[in-house]
Amino acid sequence: MTTTITITGASGQIGYALLFRIAAGDLLGPDEKVRLRLLEIPQGLGAAEGAALELQDGAFGLLEHVEVTDDVAVGFDGCDLALLVGARPRGPGMERGDLLAANGGIFGPQGSAIAANAASGVRVTVVGNPANTNALIASASADGVPADRFTALTRLDENRARAQLALTLGTPVHTVRRVPIWGNHSATQFPDVSHATVGGKPAREALEQIVGDVPAWLEQTFIPRVAKRGAEIIDVRGSSSVASAASATIDHVRDWVRGTEDWTSAGVVSRGEYGVPEGLVCSFPVEAVDGQWRVVEGLDVDDWARARIDASVAELVEEREAVRSLGLL
Ligand code: NAD
Ligand code: LMR
Repeated sequence: MTTTITITGASGQIGYALLFRIAAGDLLGPDEKVRLRLLEIPQGLGAAEGAALELQDGAFGLLEHVEVTDDVAVGFDGCDLALLVGARPRGPGMERGDLLAANGGIFGPQGSAIAANAASGVRVTVVGNPANTNALIASASADGVPADRFTALTRLDENRARAQLALTLGTPVHTVRRVPIWGNHSATQFPDVSHATVGGKPAREALEQIVGDVPAWLEQTFIPRVAKRGAEIIDVRGSSSVASAASATIDHVRDWVRGTEDWTSAGVVSRGEYGVPEGLVCSFPVEAVDGQWRVVEGLDVDDWARARIDASVAELVEEREAVRSLGLL
């Protein structure tokens, strides 16, 4: 079987990084053939054509076909996996929510085109910022496509959180698990270490030994470091994250399709879990079972965590109001 994958913004920084990893089999494994559709705006077509030539030159055994287009109907025709990356990145001093007016208008027409043209089992991952609310816009425009097929990328935040915890504890990152992100892919997000394990044991005790006052470390060091990492990358690098974002996108889609071994994080359409208003695209601790994300339910959420989740969810509500007032919902 061949999987058809549409990448929007395919000639942008993240798109370009994604193409070669997908063609090399990092997304679906070494046996699954792929057909790529590179969707760009007219100004991006030349660079996308160039990327298509380079994909030929990669002589990737799994790559069956590459098509470059600026027509959304062609771009999403028969699409099984849609990676909605194409959107403006923020610059220094901006928050991701500042991009709503510039980027929100992209996702309604793409949602409609997905509904009209994609395969019936299509799964959509929104990377373009503000990712949660753009996913909401796309889902709302995709008549007939179940809402649970639309997700927003928060795996990069989780990868950052696990990496920071591993650095603090002086342990390899693969030993650190269960550090979910709650809320919005924004500075209000809540990276939650309360269920984290290191080598299968609770991380809390190890953390106490190293940082002493864990609540103070979480408030003053860990949470701001993770939640503002995107801005830190922009400051240091001069433009927003690319390869780490592409890598997290691969992690998210691979786990969605092939299943998870443990919890991870994804922005999914809320069904009211943990009191998050229905319909918002909110990041939760999730597992992927039989090709579907399921929110991990029944976790203890103390008052401090509750306040942090509520603050991020309040921002998602505000973003929804903002796109309503822009006529995008
Ligand atoms: P980029 O400017 O390098 O590339 C964006 C590409 O999208 C360009 O090639 C542009 O021509 C194309 N594009 C614009 N509008 C389009 C449309 N309607 N249809 C198809 N293509 C379109 O930007 P980038 O660095 O690749 O970042 C892309 C987006 O991803 C940004 O919004 C950025 O903020 C976001 N991002 C999200 C995460 C996350 O974790 N969710 C991480 C990193 C970046
Ligand atoms: C990130 O988290 O690196 C991206 O969302 C880019 C940004 O604007 O921070």
